Amino acid sequence: MELSELKEKAKEVAKNAHAPYSSFRVGSAILTRSGNVYVGCNVENTSYGLTTCAERNAIASAVSTEGKIELECVVVYTPTEKPATPCGVCRQVIQEFNGSDIKVHCCCDSDEVLDTSIKKLLPEAFNLDDFKK
Ligand code: THU
Repeated sequence: MELSELKEKAKEVAKNAHAPYSSFRVGSAILTRSGNVYVGCNVENTSYGLTTCAERNAIASAVSTEGKIELECVVVYTPTEKPATPCGVCRQVIQEFNGSDIKVHCCCDSDEVLDTSIKKLLPEAFNLDDFKK
């Protein structure tokens, strides 16, 4: 699937966000190595700390459907004039799903984009190799 389509899907799913507290509607579209696309939006909670971000909800959907996944790329849309990158928690969750690297594309309401990768966003991450005793 083309990157432009993934961006459209991320923007579209942001409309479904449950964001009554921040009014900040985020959408994510992810592409798995098996070629499938999953989307997610942020889901807030009146107990604020229970909020889950768009990226993690997209990943939860992919795992729920496919079981074992590897991520090819993650697209995140924020309702901003400049692109915003995934939060620290989402970075850790994204890096769980590929031994090498995962592309991260951040898009927003302007034409500005930020194309990066999980290794750049989360260098020296705690990962499976560290977990092995
Ligand atoms: N949010 C995301 O969904 N993804 C991010 O990468 C950053 C933040 C959400 C969480 C919360 O619902 C709202 O944006 C404001 O922080």
